[in-house]
Amino acid sequence: GKYRVVSTKPMPGTRWINLLIEQDCRVEICTQKKTILSVEDIIALIGDKCDGVIGQLTEDWGETLFAALSRAGGTAFSNMAVGYNNVDVNAANKYGVAVGNTPGVLTETTAELAASLSLAAARRIVEADEFMRAGLYDGWLPHLFVGNLLKGQTVGVIGAGRIGSAYARMMVEGFKMNLIYYDLYQATRLEKFVTGYGQFLKANGEQPVTWRRAATMDEVLQEADVISLHPVLDKTTYHLINKERLATMKKEAILVNCSRGPVIDEVALVEHLKQNPMFRVGLDVFEDERYMKPGLADMKNAIVVPHIASASKWTREGMATLAALNVLGKIKGYPVWGDPNRVEPFLNENAPPPA
Ligand code: GLV
Ligand code: GLV
Repeated sequence: GKYRVVSTKPMPGTRWINLLIEQDCRVEICTQKKTILSVEDIIALIGDKCDGVIGQLTEDWGETLFAALSRAGGTAFSNMAVGYNNVDVNAANKYGVAVGNTPGVLTETTAELAASLSLAAARRIVEADEFMRAGLYDGWLPHLFVGNLLKGQTVGVIGAGRIGSAYARMMVEGFKMNLIYYDLYQATRLEKFVTGYGQFLKANGEQPVTWRRAATMDEVLQEADVISLHPVLDKTTYHLINKERLATMKKEAILVNCSRGPVIDEVALVEHLKQNPMFRVGLDVFEDERYMKPGLADMKNAIVVPHIASASKWTREGMATLAALNVLGKIKGYPVWGDPNRVEPFLNENAPPPA
């Protein structure tokens, strides 16, 4: 192979590797056993000659790594993730490295996990499962694990981009929930969908579903029964959900986070869960991914899973393939992937234009 492409992790499927090999690349996959590579580990991996790297969201892609990649002759980096808060895109641009991410292929898979967490929280699935396994079930009782009926309640979506809109669609259509959403951009297609579905229900003599685009995020927090967070993580969304905002939510609300951990002040959340036993959360992400804040693991009203929202076979193989195509596109100078200095060079039909 003429080009050397490094992947910091083994990735699912073989298509991504074959694509690179077919296009004159030598692919090197890091075999280190440790889960999260340090900046030093990655510098060693990049070595003296490296044309492109496929990296992971657990890695800190800043000035140091882009300088190292540039010194090794590299021009391409792709995160195997849609989120890229771990990547300093300005630093990459400074060193002439194009940055890609992997949107699109994980939209439905991620929205399905958010929906799963919503249902699991509403119906207390995890608590009930633990109860069964503990041998505590002694026969049916009228008040055993009574939860929330979603039908007719309001689902709130904060960040109605690709994933948020897909989640909203699932909850509205699947459970006949009304929608309130907050986003800087109008989710036109989502609005049309809910309107059409409402008309369908009405024509069938059923209560139609409704939607509303909230003027402020606080309206969503105050009015919704189930709230799912789908913003990008940046300075403006850090601790978006804090002590004060939690206090404005319904006492029996359900909060789901499949975006990024730091969007929620997790210490404040643990305190809120303690004070409000009927308030429930489903969390896929954590402020400090590997360490839940003290007390969270003890809360019966919290469901916690280890950042698996995009973890379906089809999606993970798709993410790996897109990451390879991003790197390849830049190295080979294919025009089809658009401006390589822009994150989300393709599959971004719903995304707002870059600022
Ligand atoms: C996963 O969290 C992703 O951003 O793809
Ligand atoms: C519950 O199992 C019922 O039959 O109502």
